[in-house]
This record gives sequence, C-alpha cells and structure tokens, in this order.
Amino acid sequence: MLTLAVLISGGGSNLRALLEETRHPDFPARVVVVGADRDAQGLFHAEDFDIPSFTVPYSSYETREQWGEALIEQLARWNADVVVLSGLMRLLPRNVLDRFAPHIINTHPAYLPEFPGAHAVRDALAAGATETGASVIVVDGGVDSGPVLRRERVAIPAGTTEAELHDAIKLVERRLLSEVVVDIATEKIRLEEYRA
Ligand code: GRF
Repeated sequence: MLTLAVLISGGGSNLRALLEETRHPDFPARVVVVGADRDAQGLFHAEDFDIPSFTVPYSSYETREQWGEALIEQLARWNADVVVLSGLMRLLPRNVLDRFAPHIINTHPAYLPEFPGAHAVRDALAAGATETGASVIVVDGGVDSGPVLRRERVAIPAGTTEAELHDAIKLVERRLLSEVVVDIATEKIRLEEYRA
C-alpha cells in the first residue's frame, strides 16, 4: 500500500476528493497525514476522515530553511512514500527537496508549462485563452517547472468567471491526481527515475 502525506494551504477540496478515493478498499494508496503551512481551512477534512494532521506555520520561522526544517521533522515522523502538494501555496526550500525529492508531486490548475505560478486560472483568463488545463508534476526547485506526469486540456467557455473555471479545472485535477497515485502505487510511474 502506497502511503501519502498531503500538504495544503487552503480549502482542501482536492484533498477531500483524494480522501474519498482512498476509502475504496481497492484503491492502492492511503493518506497517512495531512499538513499545512498555516491555519488552513481544509484541515477539517483530515479530521472528518480520522487522519492525523499538523500545522507548521510559515510565519513562525525567520527563514524558509528554518520552516523547511520544521516541515521535515513533521513529515519524517510519518515516513510516507510520496508527499503530495495539493494546494500548498509555497515554494519548498532546498532542504525539503534534498530530503524528499523526487518523491514529491504537485497538482496545478493549468496545462503546464503554460501558466505556472500562483494565479494560473486568472492568468489564463487574462491572456484570452480559449483553453487551459490541469497538470500533475514532479516537484523540482522551480515554480511549477518539474516533469509533467499527466496533464489534460480544459476548455474556457466564453464569459466564464475565474471561480467557475477553477471549479471545472479542479474536477480534472482530482481525477489526474488519483490516476497518478494509482500509477505510482502500481509502479507504472517510478518517481525514482526523476531524481535530478
Ligand atoms: C488547486 O487548483 C491547486 O492546484 C492549486 O490550488 C487549488 C487547491 O484547491 N494550487 P483546494 O484547496 O484543494 O480546494
């Protein structure tokens, strides 16, 4: 059974979808811990599913690396096979990458390498694009720059709002994440091959 540590910053709707998936007895992965870099609203999903959680508030540390050390300490306790960034709105510092990469994956609400960064949905709309997408990548040191494991196009209907588009993209993100997790669990994807 593949074990996952999931990191969030926000509402955690994608986390919840993953937790629902892992409820199915045939699903080959389990979430063992949920972590957040702030008092994230989505931590209640972990409680609902009886999954332990922790918070390592970014604002409590003087440097990114110090925050990273505290995050490493928490994650190390759970020894998960894969760290899933599911809406963690923060670049991981080098010490965290050194410890866990390439076993860190991230979901992103655009068809990478198009529209990297924290405002991917807004940026796609501002660019007047007629389609965007969703991606799951291996995390490297850059901003959404790691190897793409899966991605899929999502159409942008005329007149759609940012919130509507983000909701439509999240449905695809959830499916792609679930597929990638299954592929890692069944060794169709070998993250070790992405070691830098
Ligand atoms: C997702 O679109 C994720 O890719 C992005 O933030 C969103 C998280 O949403 N980085 P939620 O917290 O799972 O609802």
